[in-house]
Amino acid sequence: MTLQFHSGGIACDIHIGNGLLSEAGRLFDLRRKVLVVTDEGVPEAYPQAVLSQCAEGSLLVLPQGEGAKDLKHFEAILSALLDCGFTRRDAVVAVGGGVVGDISGFAAACYQRGIDYYNVPTTLLSQVDSSVGGKTAVNFHGVKNIVGAFHHPAAVLIDPQTLSTLSPRLVSEGLAEVVKMAATSDAALFRLLEESPDITPLLPEIIAAALRIKISVVEQDPEEKDLRAVLNFGHTVGHAIEAASAGTFFHGEAVAAGMLYTAGGEAAPRIEALLRKFSLPVSDPFTTEELMRYAVRDKKRSGGRVKLVRVDTPGSFRFEWADQASLESLIQSRK
Ligand SMILES: NC(=O)c1ccc[n+]([C@@H]2O[C@H](COP(=O)([O-])OP(=O)(O)OC[C@H]3O[C@@H](n4cnc5c(N)ncnc54)[C@H](O)[C@@H]3O)[C@@H](O)[C@H]2O)c1
Ligand SMILES: [Zn+2]
Repeated sequence: MTLQFHSGGIACDIHIGNGLLSEAGRLFDLRRKVLVVTDEGVPEAYPQAVLSQCAEGSLLVLPQGEGAKDLKHFEAILSALLDCGFTRRDAVVAVGGGVVGDISGFAAACYQRGIDYYNVPTTLLSQVDSSVGGKTAVNFHGVKNIVGAFHHPAAVLIDPQTLSTLSPRLVSEGLAEVVKMAATSDAALFRLLEESPDITPLLPEIIAAALRIKISVVEQDPEEKDLRAVLNFGHTVGHAIEAASAGTFFHGEAVAAGMLYTAGGEAAPRIEALLRKFSLPVSDPFTTEELMRYAVRDKKRSGGRVKLVRVDTPGSFRFEWADQASLESLIQSRK
């Protein structure tokens, strides 16, 4: 199935289907110079499947992990493009998780002021989250995503079969973002997640449903003025948990625990049950003071108050402004 994303005159096709990796040559224009970028942790068969469909392809393998999303490896991609004589008509294909997608997209945004970039996300998190929205970036001086650009992919290919090699912990992490989107915006998807004993065969459908939500939100609010904040459900406290944990909680795990701080009514027990079903944390070991230290750091940047996303009934949400005292009592109420 194919979804379309529109933004400021740009249209991007997002193809989703089991086995689609072998059809990259039909879905992308690979009859030109192509640099396939991946990382050491991505099974070799995935970048090779794309490479075998390129007329003139080359491969760049980055080290694995968030540490590779830096200017040094950004430069390595630019060097490969320059050394191989890439022109403005050539293209980059990212095959991997959000790290590979973000850094490859940023290199494609900068090389010759912008060349085509195709994204083949292979983690659930990158499939449901980073494949739409056009955000590309690297980390710099310890600050995440601080240097980057908006550069939409020319097309996106999502092959859910690639998730069969992903560790269960990383699958769960991606599911946290799916639960987030269903809880705020799609009651039917929420019920599907609740009622399906095994979600594996439903992954194409679930990924598409999550992406429809993200597409609709980003299309309605391309400049991140208001509505896009709904995607932050669970993230205000989640980011504080992630920072306080110093790497023990993965991003999606922190968001999972974070969602329960701003969920209420019938949504709270139902979200908690779903998180348990997907082996995600439903609490965190940090004190109110520890979490406030990081939450306030975030808040200072946005001028004193935070815009919380509250969910009382799965499928709907409301925004609520919170000052430091109300955020503190919200956190305290679960301690
Ligand atoms: N651009 C956006 O809008 C956006 C949105 C969300 C997150 N992000 C970024 O995405 C990054 C996180 O992405 P991620 O969670 O995908 O992490 P990641 O890219 O580091 O991938 C996680 C690990 O999985 C491995 N891997 C990837 N695909 C695999 C597969 N199919 N089978 C087995 N192993 C596989 C990778 O080698 C890596 O070690 C962060 O840098 C974050 O800032 C960007
Ligand atoms: Zn997130």
